[in-house]
Amino acid sequence: MPNEKVVLAYSGGLDTSVCIRYLQTLHKFDVISLTVDCGQNEDFKAIEKKALAIGAIKHIFVDGKEEFADNYVIPSIKSNGLYEDKYPLATALARPLISAKLVEEAHNLRATAVAHGCTGKGNDQIRFDVTIRALDPHLKIIAPIRDMNLTRDLEMKFAQEQEIPISSEAKKYSVDLNIWGRAIEGGIVEDANSEPPTDAFQFVKFDNDKAGYLELEFEKGIPVAVDGQRMKIINLIGYINDVAGSLGVGIVDHIEDRMVGIKSREIYEAPAAVVIVEAHKDLEKMVLTSHELRFKRVVDEQWSWLVYSGLWKDPLRSHLDKFIDATQKKVSGKVKLKMQRGSLRVVGRESQHSLYRNELATYTAGSTFDQSLAKGFVELWGLQSTVANMIDRRQRSEDNKNGGGAGS
Ligand code: ARG
Repeated sequence: MPNEKVVLAYSGGLDTSVCIRYLQTLHKFDVISLTVDCGQNEDFKAIEKKALAIGAIKHIFVDGKEEFADNYVIPSIKSNGLYEDKYPLATALARPLISAKLVEEAHNLRATAVAHGCTGKGNDQIRFDVTIRALDPHLKIIAPIRDMNLTRDLEMKFAQEQEIPISSEAKKYSVDLNIWGRAIEGGIVEDANSEPPTDAFQFVKFDNDKAGYLELEFEKGIPVAVDGQRMKIINLIGYINDVAGSLGVGIVDHIEDRMVGIKSREIYEAPAAVVIVEAHKDLEKMVLTSHELRFKRVVDEQWSWLVYSGLWKDPLRSHLDKFIDATQKKVSGKVKLKMQRGSLRVVGRESQHSLYRNELATYTAGSTFDQSLAKGFVELWGLQSTVANMIDRRQRSEDNKNGGGAGS
């Protein structure tokens, strides 16, 4: 009987490297490693060599950059995707794409199982498992690190015994990276009260005091040009990562609620994501009505939560996308941003769909706004509050007359 086959999502890092060996020796699987390029800018040839050296019988490389940008990052921009108002969802967005590739390759190779290197403590296990099951509930899902309750220390020991090479970065931090951002966990950053050392960061620089600007152009909610140059979204993201990162912009350091109940200290660097979402939100404020904006904030928040919590394939996400897409028809225009020593500020915006009308807003003689209309509006606006307060006052004076407050 030939061994069953498993397709393993392989990053080349510590977790997934020890997974190859465990799947082979413990589960007696033939392991096919799969690496999806979501813009992590790594040496994919070296990753392939490493997988084969550890024991994979075959390695598959998928260039998923464009698909990731078009089908995952762009919808996130349109919905101002930020979990708990802070985290641009980089890792969360990549997991459903990697899951889809795992299932596709498992089908191609007639594998009976897929595997990932997630622990039982994080969100990634949810994103993988839920997406894989939505696509094919018959595939077995194996997560060796979770199943064996392994810690990073144990993995490191096992890797040493098995002569599996570990990078010096992996000894310090647990890192996940794609075009939309980089997450830095583990090691000394687990101390919620200590400032992360500068060596934790790759894009963000700390040695530059100068101010710099970016001008970002959107069409229907999608960034299409930066500083007057039209470019493909992945190049545009790379450009902004460089410029904003060099001006110290893009670090997120917050306490995050994981799905499994753990509060964790999370550090990200995501200059392009932080800049683009800030600019996109600003442009929306110029072109959408206050009613659209108020409702969209609720939808956006729900969208981020769905993505964070691994429910990419839930039909609710596509229903929300329909609403979000409808709002984006007007979100075209330019936003100017100023950056310096890590600060970020929108300093100008324009749009052919702008609802900002200078002739209404101006305090000068040119104003077309009829102030006399405001008087009646204001009176009606506050009508219920006026009545409610009047009734409260009456009640209080009756209570006082009856001897110092009812029932208290
Ligand atoms: N807290 C983030 C999230 O849940 C980042 C996770 C990083 N993942 C990792 N395997 N290092 O999306």
